[in-house]
Amino acid sequence: MKVYGQDYRTIWLKPQDHRVVQVIDQTTLPHRFAVVDLHTMEDARQAIAAMTVRGAGLIGACAAFGMYLAAMESPESEFRNYLNAAGDALKGTRPTAANLAWAVERMLGAIAHAPDVAHARLIAMREAMAIADQDVDHCRRIGVHGLHLIRDIAQRKPGKTINILTHCNAGWLAFVDVGSATAPIYAAHQAGMDVHVWVDETRPRNQGASLTAWELGQHGIAHTLIADNAGGHLMQHGLVDLVITGADRVTRSGDVANKIGTYLKALAARDNGIPMVVALPSSTFDFALRDGVAHIPIEERDGAEVRYISGLNSQGCVESVRICPDLTPARNWGFDVTPSRLITKLICERGMCDANEASILSLFPEQRK
Ligand code: MRU
Repeated sequence: MKVYGQDYRTIWLKPQDHRVVQVIDQTTLPHRFAVVDLHTMEDARQAIAAMTVRGAGLIGACAAFGMYLAAMESPESEFRNYLNAAGDALKGTRPTAANLAWAVERMLGAIAHAPDVAHARLIAMREAMAIADQDVDHCRRIGVHGLHLIRDIAQRKPGKTINILTHCNAGWLAFVDVGSATAPIYAAHQAGMDVHVWVDETRPRNQGASLTAWELGQHGIAHTLIADNAGGHLMQHGLVDLVITGADRVTRSGDVANKIGTYLKALAARDNGIPMVVALPSSTFDFALRDGVAHIPIEERDGAEVRYISGLNSQGCVESVRICPDLTPARNWGFDVTPSRLITKLICERGMCDANEASILSLFPEQRK
């Protein structure tokens, strides 16, 4: 996608030195665009843990490249043990997104049968790049399928703007390119349709305000930032045609873990008869789980993210300020689970389905037990 008119992915191998992985630093956006070099597996681990990179798809891709860096730096004599330990370290960074463990396991599987360390290193590089390329391809396909939904809405209100509400950032910054929830929006924009996006700010880390607003702006897509609590009001007044979010983990029965607050949007959408659609690549499914509320691990983060807010001050410097009394305690859950009954459709690279086991498995017959 474009940054100041230039094409970028969120992660890539440094062209002059393939032993270095480069990522866009998401902690400095939207105020500063910066690229960070990752030299070691530990750099990749920290980039995920500190949310230099974030979003389910990109976390998976970064873990894959982290495994590649581990393969490059490992002593030959302890290669297998080193890679297994690297995989555990990467998987330990963030618990909710299914893509992380998926990518690590795929990397370990790819190198398992390499005849020697030199081959294993080459395979690791190719596999990490294949995971990144697949992420892009799957997101593009999500766009193709999701465009049908937006076209249906456009036909019901000819000549009028289609208003789409999204939560958090499931855009190209959350993946390697294109994004999941944003893919149908980019496709509709490209097809010349009049789309406008309501962007939830997404407290406490404000991925909507900082990232979704920034990336939509880079692509010239009409959008408006709203407070997290505004969505219900807009829905009651006919100002939302469709809610599209991404997902961090989806069970085989269609329960969806996504950024905290998604469940409340789904409740409001249901109350107002508005379609609530979730877009995800297949790497976000967790086919081992059924009951998402009971079994999806929910990341709990530092309460400081709730107690403080950061932004540009009047001098143009990034500043963090406390918004509550000094001693007020805070809790900070990163995700919630929306039960499948509140979800109108799931869109993945294989097509669109209902959020129930039979419909999901009709797209993924190989997951039938
Ligand atoms: O905590 P983050 O920023 O890594 O959260 C993940 C997300 O961006 C959202 O939950 C998103 O909607 C799904 S990730 C494609």
